[in-house]
Amino acid sequence: MTERIAIYPGTFDPITNGHLDIIARSRAQFDRVVVAVSQNPGKSPLFTLEERIAIVKEVVAAHDHIDVESFEGLLVDFAKRRGASALVKGLRAVTDFDYELQMAQMNYRLSGVETMFLVANPVYSFLSSSLVKEVAQFGGDVDEMVPPEVARRLRERFRGEG
Ligand code: PNS
Repeated sequence: MTERIAIYPGTFDPITNGHLDIIARSRAQFDRVVVAVSQNPGKSPLFTLEERIAIVKEVVAAHDHIDVESFEGLLVDFAKRRGASALVKGLRAVTDFDYELQMAQMNYRLSGVETMFLVANPVYSFLSSSLVKEVAQFGGDVDEMVPPEVARRLRERFRGEG
């Protein structure tokens, strides 16, 4: 039987517990989930692409059938190369919806690839990588919002050690 593969794309700068929840729930629906880390230089990421990939690999290491890969260019081209049957996106609130809908329609128009939306667990609906970085930058506690490896790296980065 053909393996059903989902792509979960993002910048993951850095990965949060909200992302991890979506990855675990996607894995329950698909045989394999490819976490596709975008270079996204336009966003001036705090962590380099290599660091973001290493962090995501570390936090999903204990889980089977979850791959972590980088991609450049169009997401739908990567999805085709990987033989994926769907893109997965998490929706935290209606404010995410407009842009995600537009991207899903564009991606479908470009390639016929489906986008599946998973509704974020309300526990994580306030959570974003940007806010986590801002809180960590000013010494706030993000321990319950990100995996321990990420909290440690944020502390190192903002203390100038990383
Ligand atoms: O975590 P983010 O920053 O919200 O992820 C955005 C991402 C990487 C999913 C989006 O920017 C993307 O799909 N980029 C790839 C380029 C592309 O295919 N653009 C057309 C989208 S319709």
